[in-house]
Amino acid sequence: MMKTNWDRILHGGDYNPDQWIKTKEIWDEDMRMMRLAHINSATVGIFSWSMLEPEEGVYHFDWLDEIMDKLYQNGVSVVLSTPSGARPAWLAQKYPQVLRVGENGVRNEFGIRHNHCLTSPVYREKVRNINRRLAERYHKHPALQLWHVSNEYCGECHCALCQQAFRDWLRKEYGSLDTLNDAWWNGFWSHQITDWSQIHSPKERGEPLVTALRLSWKRFVSDSHLSFFQNEIAPLREWTPEIPVTTNFMKMYDGIDYNKFERYVDIVSWDNYPEWGTGDTAQVAAETAFVHDAFRSMRGGQPFLMMESTPSSINWRDVNKLPQPGMQELSAMQAIAHGSDSVQYFQWRKSRGSHEKYHGAVVDHCGHEHTRVFQEVAHTGAVLERLSAVAGVGYKSRVAVLYDWENDWAIKAFCGFNNQKRDYFGECVKWYKPFYKRGVSVDVVSMEDDFEGYDLIAAPVLYMLKPGTEEKIAAYVRNGGVFVGTYLTGMVDRNDLCFLGGVPAGVLKEVFGVWHEDTDALPADRPGQAVFNGKTYAVRDLCDLIHATDAQVLGAYTQDFYAGTPALTMHHYGQGQAVYAAFCGDDVFADDVCAMLMQQHGIDPDTRIESGDVCVRKRGDYIFVLNFTEKTQHVRLDKTYTDVLTQQHCCGDILLEPCCYRILTAP
Ligand code: GLA
Ligand code: ZN
Repeated sequence: MMKTNWDRILHGGDYNPDQWIKTKEIWDEDMRMMRLAHINSATVGIFSWSMLEPEEGVYHFDWLDEIMDKLYQNGVSVVLSTPSGARPAWLAQKYPQVLRVGENGVRNEFGIRHNHCLTSPVYREKVRNINRRLAERYHKHPALQLWHVSNEYCGECHCALCQQAFRDWLRKEYGSLDTLNDAWWNGFWSHQITDWSQIHSPKERGEPLVTALRLSWKRFVSDSHLSFFQNEIAPLREWTPEIPVTTNFMKMYDGIDYNKFERYVDIVSWDNYPEWGTGDTAQVAAETAFVHDAFRSMRGGQPFLMMESTPSSINWRDVNKLPQPGMQELSAMQAIAHGSDSVQYFQWRKSRGSHEKYHGAVVDHCGHEHTRVFQEVAHTGAVLERLSAVAGVGYKSRVAVLYDWENDWAIKAFCGFNNQKRDYFGECVKWYKPFYKRGVSVDVVSMEDDFEGYDLIAAPVLYMLKPGTEEKIAAYVRNGGVFVGTYLTGMVDRNDLCFLGGVPAGVLKEVFGVWHEDTDALPADRPGQAVFNGKTYAVRDLCDLIHATDAQVLGAYTQDFYAGTPALTMHHYGQGQAVYAAFCGDDVFADDVCAMLMQQHGIDPDTRIESGDVCVRKRGDYIFVLNFTEKTQHVRLDKTYTDVLTQQHCCGDILLEPCCYRILTAP
């Protein structure tokens, strides 16, 4: 039986004992300090290929045997990694075809990581081989808990093999050149293709502008990562059918369609590096919450794993500010509140040399536990031990925001309107925040997910529609759902071909009761203006000029030649309602629209705690109250709760200082 739920929250992270193989006394220190830090999970072997197979066909597993045993004896379970993220130098030297070719057509030299061709049969075979050796050797090891496949899959390869694979992929996708030429609108600029071999990956020195080609390439690269992954896990499935596999995702990384990839892992995991030092901690917290919710929603509300986070600063931004004391723990609690079953760090111990030696770690170069960071991690670990009751507990929400990877690609690809400002993620977070900040939990769904069961779905900038999406939205609203669309809704199909006959596409014109005739773009220093409910709002970046064919006009533009025309509409369609927010506004606009809808449709917070600017999230029986603001906040409790950590009763007003949190349960 495959187990993806454990009876505790995992606390640990990337552990690289192979970097310290010549000073094994450090390994014993690691074990001692892991106990002190309440570590129960270690991710081992991520970049260990050259230590595991120092020469072709020569394997050194003794060090890993020793580490696996030691960890097990110390109550630490192992997340065992496959090492494909970085290959040994001998492999690259002997088989140069495994290395990536850049857009410029030049093959990379050995170096860095994520530097492999996704198609190369030699690399795939070598990866399968080392993975099989690992699975064969450790399939019965009691410490083995989870497979961590490779590391943060990313990037693309433009070699001849990948070009051929792309053409084969296109042939399957389109069937004939005639279909492809039509779908890509290749009559434009004399781009008709007469032989498959004329197709190349998009690139600056070739074809960077045909949007359908770019979208196809995105899909192909994403699928190549997926098939690379499937190749990797074949031996794992064979030897360890009961051990789950995951691979660590990177936020909303746009090189892989995680909505699709997610179906092939047993548990979703992601690496979380919020930029706390920006000065707007509450905004960073909201964005992070959105991403957590996206990964929880991928498997219908099931828990995910936060596979990496830093216990202090990182090293790869321009300026790497230390997070405030308490922020690491608050951030950990946020992950748990939103459905993570783990708090994992990159990294346990700072490496002594090379590129990441100044990246935060639980154990610093001083080598002992008497540091602020270590003590904070140990404290977090002790707290997590008391939260086992939520391990494995998932949840679904009544409200969803639609975020779709393919839509993101399409939005980034087109040329027109406002080419300076394209922030799909930002727009989605903008329409997520009104619910999040009022303590209403939110799911993040894709066009392919089920819409049933949601009271309200906000779908910002749903520019591209996949086949069937219009009908799906129509059915959802007809059956009583509330659907919020914005400017540029339903403009193009999956090939970025514009819908003819008026937008939003097809039946959506009836659903919204509007026809969108034109789009205006606004320079950053010359915003427009709209009024709704007697209040004036800035119109930024983009706005649609629409006709309310059947909808009720709630707001109108007040400037430019379109002053007096609709800027916000609402339409009753079937049992439900569709709202068209025709312009890009500041947060306050989305907030006011959503507040109105919440009130009209009885969408109440998940608890009755009056939290002000503090975030409240309920997971199972626990209510997490998290202060990401820079001020001490008052929280008014509606009844008596028990503080899970102190076991004290609390009621009335409580004060929460910045970076502080409470976990409450109703007695
Ligand atoms: C990524 C990688 C890690 C490490 C961290 C540093 O998430 O997976 O190996 O490089 O970044 O922040
Ligand atoms: Zn390649």
